[in-house]
Amino acid sequence: MTLDKLTIHQPDDWHLHIRDGALMKAVLPSTINVFSRAIIMPNLDPPIRTIQEAIAYKKRILSALSKNNSFTPLMTLYLTNDISTATIEKGFKEGIFHACKLYPANATTNSSYGVTDFDAIENVYKIMESIGMPLLIHGEVTDRDVDIFDREKVFIDRHLSNLLYKHPKLKVVLEHITTEYATEFVQSSNFDLAATITPHHLHINRNAMFEGGLRSDFYCLPVAKRENNRLALRRAATSGKSCFFLGTDSAPHLRKSKKSSCGCAGIFNSTYALESYTQVFDNENSLTNLEKFASINGPEFYGLPLNKKHVTLEKKKHKIPEFISLDLEDGSQEKLVPFHAGEELSWKITKVG
Ligand code: NCD
Ligand code: ZN
Repeated sequence: MTLDKLTIHQPDDWHLHIRDGALMKAVLPSTINVFSRAIIMPNLDPPIRTIQEAIAYKKRILSALSKNNSFTPLMTLYLTNDISTATIEKGFKEGIFHACKLYPANATTNSSYGVTDFDAIENVYKIMESIGMPLLIHGEVTDRDVDIFDREKVFIDRHLSNLLYKHPKLKVVLEHITTEYATEFVQSSNFDLAATITPHHLHINRNAMFEGGLRSDFYCLPVAKRENNRLALRRAATSGKSCFFLGTDSAPHLRKSKKSSCGCAGIFNSTYALESYTQVFDNENSLTNLEKFASINGPEFYGLPLNKKHVTLEKKKHKIPEFISLDLEDGSQEKLVPFHAGEELSWKITKVG
């Protein structure tokens, strides 16, 4: 049976960067057009390290939304070497934080405040394990002598395995996985371990960064890997298994920061993310598993209810614009290149509600 129309519970984005200030205001409408909730990454500069900062950031997000928008930002705490366990416990129990984010120091954008010694924050893991608070991990080592294409695997072997054995009840999400090794590790784990998968890692392999020249629009962290990894990610995402769910890792950067001799890591994908994922599920003959990946597995892991509203997608070709123009508060204009720029996608959202 070929499906050309699909209605699913409204999805959530379990890994999202919306930045702050003028850029946030500008990207927000096109970022949350279809998602009901999103785990908001705390890697601002400076990052979200206190309850007060999270409350203030959430307020800024909510006040940037249009009046009748019911989008719910789910805030996270950025872990540092000296983060206080009292902040973690209080913030989680009071419903301010839904998770803590562990960035290995200098692994990615705004991660210089991150953790330098994973063993030194044992007290953090302990408290999180005891209160059932999810730990979200950017799973890459940063050692310069480890090849950038191996950093995820080395992180799993050196750090994640031990962490899970030491804290068997800890809820962990290995964020934006990029390797076959990670898909195997997650789905065969006996622990409370899940993973998010981005649309771009389902569509591109590492060649995209070098096609006809250096293409920073396809540069993100962890970097896309070889084709066998992309294929494994597609099998994992479309499997319907509860340990895999949607996390776009949409990460907008100003054009000048991408078009630079030292371009920033991050792909801005959220505007067409659901259509992008749907295309993958269609190509893999797994449209019936899309709802699990996009709308069910995430809330179940986080212990949240399913969204009441629904989203309808129809098989209708549409072209993704080369740029998304944004009007900044100061009157200037910014152009962001969306993922799939200039390409045609075959599924379109036709109804939310
Ligand atoms: C993200 C960003 O720009 O904030 N960049 C990225 O390449 N994914 C940070 C991150 O999630 O690594
Ligand atoms: Zn991210």
